[in-house]
Amino acid sequence: MRFLSGIQPSGNITLGNYLGALKNFVKLQDNPEFTDFLVFVADCHAITVPQEKETLRKNIRSLVALYLACGLDPKKVHIFIQSEVPAHNQLGWVLECTGYIGELERMTQFKDKKEKQVQGVSAGLLTYPALMAADILLYDTDIVPVGQDQKQHLELTRDLAIRFNNKYGDTFKIPEPYIAKGGAKIMSLVDPTKKMSKSDPNPKAYIALLDDINVAKKKIKSSITDSDNLIKYDEINKPGISNLLTILSCLTNTSIEKLEEKYKNSNYATFKSDVADAVEAELKPIQEKYNELINSKYLDEVLDEGRDYATYLANKKINKVYNKVGLGRKR
Ligand code: AQP
Repeated sequence: MRFLSGIQPSGNITLGNYLGALKNFVKLQDNPEFTDFLVFVADCHAITVPQEKETLRKNIRSLVALYLACGLDPKKVHIFIQSEVPAHNQLGWVLECTGYIGELERMTQFKDKKEKQVQGVSAGLLTYPALMAADILLYDTDIVPVGQDQKQHLELTRDLAIRFNNKYGDTFKIPEPYIAKGGAKIMSLVDPTKKMSKSDPNPKAYIALLDDINVAKKKIKSSITDSDNLIKYDEINKPGISNLLTILSCLTNTSIEKLEEKYKNSNYATFKSDVADAVEAELKPIQEKYNELINSKYLDEVLDEGRDYATYLANKKINKVYNKVGLGRKR
């Protein structure tokens, strides 16, 4: 079975990206069911909203170094940069022409992100799900890990694949969503009713994996909670404490119930201090590894291998698609 996933280099990778996605990829790479494992840097997706050239370049390399520092093993995983495999955009265009404006406009993520744009809404923000569909369908992907927010996009991917197959004959494998166990949703530290996001303009809202350790600990200690001094999981009435419980649970592999029991007579200061220590224990080795990797030749070797492997698979598929549609000369 083939597994594929990607993260956008649209900011500093957060504890949310790590606990919701990356940490699970690291576990899954050892699952013998996955005979082929592809993880990419979704840089084309990142430019659906404005990006600074130098920052984007830096974020792409930084994300690759983080993939490795967090434990992805290039012996088991092919790691590549989306824009280095042109077939993603080639198929993206064909799928844009397969989808309808109405179905793209219905995507809730488009509606949400559109509201946040102050400099105008790019056409790419609307058509992004067609490119995401291309990412998945190019590789005959069996399993795509998706958070709640991406479920609608995967549904659209399936619709586009079925529509194309019906018109041109069997071409794409229909992918299945994979809701990872323990793939928790981590919330903002300043507004725990909102998801923690790397593009949040307020850096206090997120812990970046590369935050200075003391800064990261301070963010946990000053995170917004409530004033009733009860350490109990209750997303509705105690979203801040619930979020910290989720974070501690993921970091220490301890159930929320056990944590509630452990902290039932504690105060918030003690609890937050323990969460901050757990964050430190997780981030320190990642940062050390990252610093060894970021300027290394090894990182480029990993990316070259990933690009070549992905290109080989993707080109086979795009040739097939172009032939079915009748684009260019027969190949
Ligand atoms: N807060 C979160 N909790 C759990 N999982 C999360 N993910 C993102 N935020 C959280 C997961 O991280 C992966 C990569 O996401 P992405 O970069 O493709 O885009 P995103 O979901 O839009 O992530 P961000 O951090 O919110 O980025 P921006 O701010 O650029 O939009 C996905 O698997 C996602 O579920």
